[in-house]
Amino acid sequence: MQIFIDSADVKQIEVWLAQGVVDGATTNPSIMFKDGVTDLEEGARKLATLLGDRPLSVEVTTNDRETMLKQAREFATWARNIVVKIPIVNEHGESCLGVIHRLTQEGIGVNATAILSFNQAILAAKAGATYVSIFAGRVSDEGSDPSVVIRNVRTWLKEWDSAAHIIVGSIRTVMDIQNAALAGAHIITIPPQFLPKMVDHRYTRETVRQFVQDAERTLEQMSKAKSQAASTSTR
Ligand code: E4P
Repeated sequence: MQIFIDSADVKQIEVWLAQGVVDGATTNPSIMFKDGVTDLEEGARKLATLLGDRPLSVEVTTNDRETMLKQAREFATWARNIVVKIPIVNEHGESCLGVIHRLTQEGIGVNATAILSFNQAILAAKAGATYVSIFAGRVSDEGSDPSVVIRNVRTWLKEWDSAAHIIVGSIRTVMDIQNAALAGAHIITIPPQFLPKMVDHRYTRETVRQFVQDAERTLEQMSKAKSQAASTSTR
C-alpha cells in the first residue's frame, strides 16, 4: 500500500519524504490556498520538483468540461509527474467521464476525484482513470460506511483486472486510515497532521524511557566490571 500526503505544504512534504513514507501527494485548490500557494502553476511546479518521480495530483478549477480539458493539458506540461484531478461529475451533475477518457487516451494521468459511491468508482475505472479517489470522510457524512465502498471497489477492480488504483482521501481521523488500509485501499492520502499521531504512542515513549534508563545503569555496571577485570589481570 502506498501513502500520499494530502498537502501543498513544502516543509511538511520535506519532513515526511525524509522519513521515507511518502509515495506521492494530492492537492486541491482549497489545500493549495490553505498552504500558502498564491500561484497555481508556480506552486504545482515547486511541489512536482520536490516529489521527484512521485505523482502529484493537481485539480482542475472549473465546471466547464472543455475548460477542464484545456487546463488538464496545460497542467500536464508543467511536470512529468503531474496527474490531473477531474471530478466524476461537475456541480451540475454532468458526467466528466468523457474528459477522463479523452485525457487518458492522450496519455495524461487522471485522478478521478470526489467519488462517493461504488458505481462512480467503477465507471471512472472503465473510462481509464489511473486513480479513483474515494472520499472516506464525505462517504461517512452521508451515512454510509466507507470501508464497504472501498472493499467492494477493490474486489471489483481485481475481478475485472482493472489497472485503476484506489486512493482513499478525505481522512478525518487516524482510525479512518486504519479502516481504509484494512478495507483494501491501494493508496491513502493523509493530511500531514495525522502522521505524527500514527507514529507516536504514549506507552512506546514509556517503554523507550525504561530501556534508556536500564541501558544507562547497565553501561555503568559494565564499565565497573571492565575496570575490575583490568585490575585483577595486572596483579
Ligand atoms: C484528496 O484528494 C481530497 O482532495 C481531499 O482528501 C478531500 O478532503 P476533504 O473531504 O476533507 O475536503
